[in-house]
Amino acid sequence: MPEYRQVYISEIKNYEAQRVCLKGWLYNKRSSGKLHFLQLRDGTGIIQAVMFKGDVSEEVFATADRIAQESSIEVYGIVKQDKRSPIGFEIGVENLKLVSEAEEYPITHKEHGVAFLLENRHLWLRSPRQHAILKIRHQIIKSIRDYLNNRGFLLIDSPIFTPAACEGTTTLFETGYFDEKAYLTQSGQLYNEAAAMAFGKVYCFGPTFRAEKSKTRRHLTEFWMVEPEMAYYDLNMNMDLAEDFVENIVQSVVQNNTRELEILERDVSKLENIKKPFPRITYTEAVELLKSKGKEVQWGEDFGGDEETVISESFDKPVMIHRYPAGCKAFYMKEDPKNPELALCVDVIGPEGYGEIIGGGQREDDLDVLLKKIKEHNLPQEAFEWYLDLRRYGSVPHSGFGLGIERTVGWLCGLHHVRETIPFPRMMERLRP
Ligand code: 4AD
Ligand code: MG
Repeated sequence: MPEYRQVYISEIKNYEAQRVCLKGWLYNKRSSGKLHFLQLRDGTGIIQAVMFKGDVSEEVFATADRIAQESSIEVYGIVKQDKRSPIGFEIGVENLKLVSEAEEYPITHKEHGVAFLLENRHLWLRSPRQHAILKIRHQIIKSIRDYLNNRGFLLIDSPIFTPAACEGTTTLFETGYFDEKAYLTQSGQLYNEAAAMAFGKVYCFGPTFRAEKSKTRRHLTEFWMVEPEMAYYDLNMNMDLAEDFVENIVQSVVQNNTRELEILERDVSKLENIKKPFPRITYTEAVELLKSKGKEVQWGEDFGGDEETVISESFDKPVMIHRYPAGCKAFYMKEDPKNPELALCVDVIGPEGYGEIIGGGQREDDLDVLLKKIKEHNLPQEAFEWYLDLRRYGSVPHSGFGLGIERTVGWLCGLHHVRETIPFPRMMERLRP
């Protein structure tokens, strides 16, 4: 047998007219008497391998004829230019080795319902659309890490097992912890604040958990959040950072994921437009806007998904809504010194109805006010003594925010629901596979 160089489909352009070996899976197949057109995928791409009856042994030709979709195979042949192929090349097959013959594959090239596909998520990941989404997710995470690492932020991994609530007690996942109770983390923020007092600028990036009993297109029970936290940052500095951060993430996807955005049929002009400055309005102005559009809202209530969608329709960029009523926000938010009814917080609402991408704000740095807030929220003070220490020993103004990865992936990919934005989604009614 002649020598074949083992290569990936993504590097095929470097091997024109050469003998190569590609190892992968049979994605699709068409046959016409003396010819098999085999679509091979190897995780880096899909290529057509053309097999003429006269070029291979009878046994190999019969194997290619028989094997089902997703059988694992090694294809040996010569790289040829092919102007009609999306990657510009095809393989003239000289030999084929069957690695493992697949049973009849459940996900065919026909349309399938989402429930069925979610049940088969472990196989669904092999499809080009899921590849496009998860490659964009990868790029988003890479750009986030690069952005923060290049600006002097230190990565601080916050714990998953926690003794107390950060984002309200109604969505806590409780678990046994030897003789105690523990909760899965809802946010690394409180630990981040301790780290910011130690290192200045920090971030945590990990999975977070919320027992969300609502079945919406924006909620998972396990989702990933990146949370920067900065000492000596006020709300305005925090908003400036969030704005620059989001612009950077979006533009890095626009620059690096042309092919994936094309597969997803995403309107890229909408993403190219995501440049600073983003509109900034107060909560009170947002309430006025909603009323002017015929929505019934009471000042003092938090916005839900519907309100966020209506607000976003007035803007073609993310909109930063600041100074919500303190009553609808978490205990740690700093009171607005100009109006104690308001919290110095900000939510960033994505355009095109993708909902809240970022939540954050300035933190309460006054010991007495924070003690009062912990009482008002009926939280157990003893569980927060360590957090109160941060106000006892060199308290400073500080701020931060959390960006939800899945909501961001959903927005940039143009997906209706967050279930496809994470490899194995966890929702109220989905713990499997
Ligand atoms: O607004 P949230 O609850 O903010 C916090 O957790 C702060 N402690 C963050 C901080 O200031 N360090 O959540 C932040 C973001 C939301 O804007 C949203 O993008 C995402 O996390 N998020 C969810 N994503 C998917 N499923 C859920 N159930 C989510 N809940 C929040
Ligand atoms: Mg929020």
